[in-house]
Amino acid sequence: MNKKSDIIIVTDPGVDDATALMYAIFSNKINIKLLCIAGGNSSIENTTNNALYLMELLKYDVPVAVGLDHPLRQEKSNFAEKVHGKCGLGGVNVNVKKPSTKPIETPACDAMYETLKKSKKKLSIVAIGPMTCVAEMLEKYNDAQKYIQEVIFMGGTKEKIYGRPYKEFNISFDPDCVDVVIKSGVPLVMVPMELGHFAYLNKKDIKAVKHINKIGKLFAKMYKKYHDFHVGSYGAAVHDVCTIYYLTHPENMKIEKGHIELKYYQDEKEKFGYIDTCYDKEPNALICVDMDILRFKYDLFDAFDETNSILQIKS
Ligand code: RIB
Ligand code: CA
Repeated sequence: MNKKSDIIIVTDPGVDDATALMYAIFSNKINIKLLCIAGGNSSIENTTNNALYLMELLKYDVPVAVGLDHPLRQEKSNFAEKVHGKCGLGGVNVNVKKPSTKPIETPACDAMYETLKKSKKKLSIVAIGPMTCVAEMLEKYNDAQKYIQEVIFMGGTKEKIYGRPYKEFNISFDPDCVDVVIKSGVPLVMVPMELGHFAYLNKKDIKAVKHINKIGKLFAKMYKKYHDFHVGSYGAAVHDVCTIYYLTHPENMKIEKGHIELKYYQDEKEKFGYIDTCYDKEPNALICVDMDILRFKYDLFDAFDETNSILQIKS
């Protein structure tokens, strides 16, 4: 039996976050030791509620710690409710039925440090939302880095889009925290936005999952109101799932060593932070530049097929 990887996930659920959490749990390859909640796809209240709801639904017992309700050094940023819907889970409104579980009292940055320190081995941090709490922890605990295996993050783009830097959400929501994490020197794995577009789920894919069981129905309902305009009516981008897929199947990823740094772009309309990637400077990150989409989809749906046995659901 393959050993499971122990990880901490930073997330702002979020439709693709929810799919990533489902895949992480159903893949049978991952042990989530702690969920750290960020604001982003919706308010921190909504993303926390969504995380608690999902863990209850998936019968997964993991501490849920709440992060800051604002970026590290900026005023509140705009939430992505146009993409993920009013409450953050697309067509699923968890506010109708409040979760019975509560988050832990310990703030996310402290809970992350305690979990890292308590672990017998270094842990990977998987950031599929703004990584504010990672930066907060690195600034607050100067020995934290020695407990971290790597930070695998969904964010940025592998190249410029339409000839200019692209305002990818996780990076532009809180650029200061990205700068802190990159400059900390912690081992980094970048999963850029393009992979989630390459691997988008089409309507047939979503319909296939819908008929597996009640989890599949919820999955399909989430995607009903999820609008990633790049993929538009073709289907749904799955950015965050690709980040978990790096952990479960790195052999199906094309990975290059590159140099990443946070930069700012400004034009007459706006100024935003983005990750500049280049390959002719000292590498400081692994960059996932491509992925075997067919194997990705096979492994994702194979994991969803496991839900009946894992959750003892009668389909
Ligand atoms: O740009 C994609 C990222 O922003 C994903 O993590 C998605 O969930 C949103 O948070
Ligand atoms: Ca996310």
